[in-house]
Amino acid sequence: MTNDAHESPGTESWRRLGFRQIEDEFGGREAMELRSEFIERTARAVMEARADLVEHFGHDAGSLGYWCWLNSFGVQEHRLLRHLLAPVPPREVFEFVGSDNELGYLETGANGYRMIAGLVAQQDRKLDDFRCVLDFGSGPGRMIRYFLRHWSTTGIVGADVDRRAIEWAQRNFPFGEFVVSSPEPPLVFPAASFDLIYAVSVFSHLSEANHLAWVEELRRVCHPDALVILTILGRHAHTRLSEEPKFRDWAGLDLNQLGAARREIDGRGFAFVRQESGHLDRDLYGVAFLTPTYIESAWAKHFELVDFKEAAIDDNQDAVVLRPR
Ligand SMILES: C[S@@+](CC[C@H](N)C(=O)[O-])C[C@H]1O[C@@H](n2cnc3c(N)ncnc32)[C@H](O)[C@@H]1O
Repeated sequence: MTNDAHESPGTESWRRLGFRQIEDEFGGREAMELRSEFIERTARAVMEARADLVEHFGHDAGSLGYWCWLNSFGVQEHRLLRHLLAPVPPREVFEFVGSDNELGYLETGANGYRMIAGLVAQQDRKLDDFRCVLDFGSGPGRMIRYFLRHWSTTGIVGADVDRRAIEWAQRNFPFGEFVVSSPEPPLVFPAASFDLIYAVSVFSHLSEANHLAWVEELRRVCHPDALVILTILGRHAHTRLSEEPKFRDWAGLDLNQLGAARREIDGRGFAFVRQESGHLDRDLYGVAFLTPTYIESAWAKHFELVDFKEAAIDDNQDAVVLRPR
């Protein structure tokens, strides 16, 4: 990343706010370093005591795969890890993001984090290179909890319309900064605040007018050298929903709605299915399908599409990687 991003006033002020919160919570940077050291030692001790882990991860207690294991299966199996690593929200706080059990929530979070790290690596960057990251539509931080690993290099900010999820994250993740945002732009951040923005399973829900407004707003808050990674529902997810009744029921869709959506996807590359239940505004938030061709043309003023991965996460949503124009 370039030095310009270091000098962005927005980036610096959000980083400062994040670190102030850490100080309040743990008595300063020193305490956070101690926590990291404890985590490293515990991770190594757990690995050395378990042949299955060594067999699976080798002896590399610092690998991405092992970090994901520690934060999913690890926190369920070892009380000390549960205490040291980022806390897990109670079910009533996490279930609205689409997981009905704790391990499912932790594993899908790991998959999201791994996907982001992988897409960033394909652009010859790594998560530690970024100074300030925005998780747009973060919920209670399903992916953000994995950023504890990067606390000393990378400021992380979560924004979401769901006050309960954000307040939970504010109380529990001192390595991040969390804000309640509005269903429509703007965000509170100054222009060019972030050098990485990601949104998992958010643009898969927004209506066309709403998502176009958010595309413009994300462009405003991203630094000119930023990467933006968004997941969307595309043709792959549509086919699965059409063919798998269980998946369709989980998503709350029927075949008539999917048939109408298919015609729109084939016609113009975008479809929005309004849903009758849910906790957000029905006109803004439902089920949205997008194609890369639509993105290339409808978002062209603000972003260039630099990568597209079909079924990038949980054999469901596609991922798009964008650079600001
Ligand atoms: C399916 S959940 C995904 C949450 C999180 N990204 C994750 O993967 O766990 C969608 C999230 O988007 C949030 N959301 C919906 N509309 C939003 C908007 N306009 N701005 C910010 N967040 C929004 C919801 O409150 C919810 O937390």
